[in-house]
Amino acid sequence: PTPAPAPSYSIAFASVAANQNDTVTVPNGYTVDVLLKAGDSVEAGTPYSGSYPTPADAEKWAGGNHDGMEYFELSGTDANQGGLLAINHELADYNILFSGSYDAATASADQKALALSAVGISVVEVAKGTDGKWAVKAGSRYNKRYTGNSSYKASGPASGLLSNTIKGMLNNCSSGRTPWGTYLTCEETTDNYLDPTQPENNYGWVVEIDPYQELAQPTKRTALGRFDHENVAHMTDSNKRVAFYMGDDSTPGCIYKFVCDRAYNSSNRAANTDMLDHGTLYVARFNADGSGEWRALVQGQNGLLPGASDPGNVSQSTTPPTPAIVNFNTDADVLINTKSAARVAGGTVMDRPEWLTVAPDNSAVYCTLTNNSSRRVADAANPRIRNLHGHIIKFKEKDNSPLATTFTWEIFLLAGDPGLSAGGSNLVGDIKGDTFSSPDGIRIDPQGRLWVQTDHSVPGNSGVTGTTIDQAFGHNAMFYVDQTSKQSKRFLVGPEGCEITGIAYTPDLKTFFVNIQHPTGNWPVAGQQPRSSTVVITRNDGQPVGN
Ligand code: FEO
Ligand code: CA
Ligand code: CA
Ligand code: CA
Repeated sequence: PTPAPAPSYSIAFASVAANQNDTVTVPNGYTVDVLLKAGDSVEAGTPYSGSYPTPADAEKWAGGNHDGMEYFELSGTDANQGGLLAINHELADYNILFSGSYDAATASADQKALALSAVGISVVEVAKGTDGKWAVKAGSRYNKRYTGNSSYKASGPASGLLSNTIKGMLNNCSSGRTPWGTYLTCEETTDNYLDPTQPENNYGWVVEIDPYQELAQPTKRTALGRFDHENVAHMTDSNKRVAFYMGDDSTPGCIYKFVCDRAYNSSNRAANTDMLDHGTLYVARFNADGSGEWRALVQGQNGLLPGASDPGNVSQSTTPPTPAIVNFNTDADVLINTKSAARVAGGTVMDRPEWLTVAPDNSAVYCTLTNNSSRRVADAANPRIRNLHGHIIKFKEKDNSPLATTFTWEIFLLAGDPGLSAGGSNLVGDIKGDTFSSPDGIRIDPQGRLWVQTDHSVPGNSGVTGTTIDQAFGHNAMFYVDQTSKQSKRFLVGPEGCEITGIAYTPDLKTFFVNIQHPTGNWPVAGQQPRSSTVVITRNDGQPVGN
């Protein structure tokens, strides 16, 4: 890999205080604007205005529970002034769709269609106006919804075990992108609980979508394995070889990477259409001595044979569970039963791996382990039983190469707060500066700044009787964390009930896009239903965010 220059950025913003205000708080000198709310128009139609929609209306709206997102440049447009945003919708914001809650067993056909309309992704063209405010460009030919009612195809080694035409993708949690400019959206569920009539093999995949609508139709890429996919982060080398890192946000859940068989083509996008169908999926094993291995999930290797013994969730009890017998006869069996294959192959069962991010110079990969209150057996990489506040692990590929089969690793930080010491040292952590619980979103921006977003569950227990998690940490928030000193600075605090997730930016880093997911109070529009939204963060003096 090409060595990256030493970080040249500065961090000059003044931390915002932890708070429980029903608004988005940013540092002095910054401005927050709401860009795209659940129920706003993506495709032309009637947006939400306070009354419940028809399924046809909702199919054109921005979905709910905005999550991971990516910003794409448009040729002929100054990317710092406009581009495409692809935004995941993890769940419906049910409060704007129909009264009451959703129950798949009793839902009417309209309720089912509405719930499925609100997951998937939105692609919108956005641009900065003459007033300096960003807005969706209504009528852009790029504006498009891909929902739980749309059709998808499958490709790769397990595609024969999926339907030819698949109805829907769902729980579009976090995201990623390819070096050839496609969007990767992650299904964080392996069953279609919104519509249980659909075959379960069809869900739990990474879906590749071309936001420019030039390449293949949206495709579930089975070579990347079937599990509760959180996000995808890629590493490339100077030979255009590429690896994609992925977490399985479940208990137990492992960390994976997929290495494409060949180099990508940087001059012909269409030549990359099958890149994600040919390669090797690996699971990470974290050894106690700080070394690590990538073990191939290939039939016939690493115990992946007929009659294999799956040890199960060895972390949840000091009494090991009874192993299950699983038959791996083909690579398709391995990819359909990826979680089981990973355990058979010796993958380490982690504390709910959420996002991964790769340093611009390939020198580090970080993964958030959000929390795992059910852990009863600790190991070196997951050192706390009843891990209520989570941690972040850092690993380094051998030779900083995406093709490496070994790595070294360390615990980057243990989340928690010294103020919780009354609940035991397990809750305290080792964060320097502004503390947090339950790291989830994590991304290193192109200048090397590490950003962390939190998802402690609300309402939730801090671990100390009588102290709620919001009282201990404030509302969910976004932090800058220095990778050397591990000093943390709180950059943004969300409104009531929300989680902070999703981060994208213009190339000049003067505009940041962040998602506010599932607010429950009176935000973003006073007097209306709360709605998940994408917000835009800029500096009043026009300089890059964070400097
Ligand atoms: Fe959808 Fe694991 O967050
Ligand atoms: Ca998440
Ligand atoms: Ca989470
Ligand atoms: Ca969520």
